[in-house]
Amino acid sequence: MNAESAQRPKPAGGRRLVCITGASGAMYGIRTIQALLESGCEVHAVASEWGERVVAEETGKPFSVWMNDFAISQDHIHNCRDLAAPIASGSFPLDATVIVPCSMNSAGAIASGVCQNLIHRAALVSLKESRPLIIVSRESPLSLIDLRNLTTLAETGASILPASPAFYHSPATIDDMVNFVVGKILDHLHVEHRLFRRWG
Ligand SMILES: Cc1cc2nc3c(=O)[nH]c(=O)nc-3n(C[C@H](O)[C@H](O)[C@H](O)COP(=O)(O)O)c2cc1C
Repeated sequence: MNAESAQRPKPAGGRRLVCITGASGAMYGIRTIQALLESGCEVHAVASEWGERVVAEETGKPFSVWMNDFAISQDHIHNCRDLAAPIASGSFPLDATVIVPCSMNSAGAIASGVCQNLIHRAALVSLKESRPLIIVSRESPLSLIDLRNLTTLAETGASILPASPAFYHSPATIDDMVNFVVGKILDHLHVEHRLFRRWG
């Protein structure tokens, strides 16, 4: 990581990292990036190899094209194989990291302290620096291994926020269901939003 990126002052809206892994529900990750950008946050983004594959399968558009459409700075899109990226270091000031959606493969690697790519490294940095880490898990059913890994992550300080949309707000479209989960993520990041109608 270069010294310049570590010295960069934090933007007023804060700086968040959004990681997309190869679980179903790629749109949750894409919409999270979009909502954070719209709320004025500096957003860093990275997708795993399988994350990119599922984004293309489920949204019909490659991750790189989504990022271009959002006009996100090229400096803020990181290569998942690049363990020398700024976000791989605890000295890079991030307010929070979200893995959305989070595969059981990535959850298992992080829970074991294994760093096979930049997403695992960024998550492990988040935990060691005691910074907020939100794991938006997506798998069903969960094996005992998955449950234990998620428990380890929760015990280590991560928030486990399963991608499970509610029905009490009467969703009419898939977009409504995606927005509900993304709204929950933004709540946990203390970012204001109007993605869903609140109960009461
Ligand atoms: C279309 C598709 C959907 C998938 N959905 C899930 C899922 O919902 N949850 C999960 O844990 N893995 C899912 N997988 C498997 C992961 O992609 C696989 O475990 C991969 O190794 C994850 O790598 P990553 O964690 O580096 O992204 C899916 C794979 C494909 C191709």
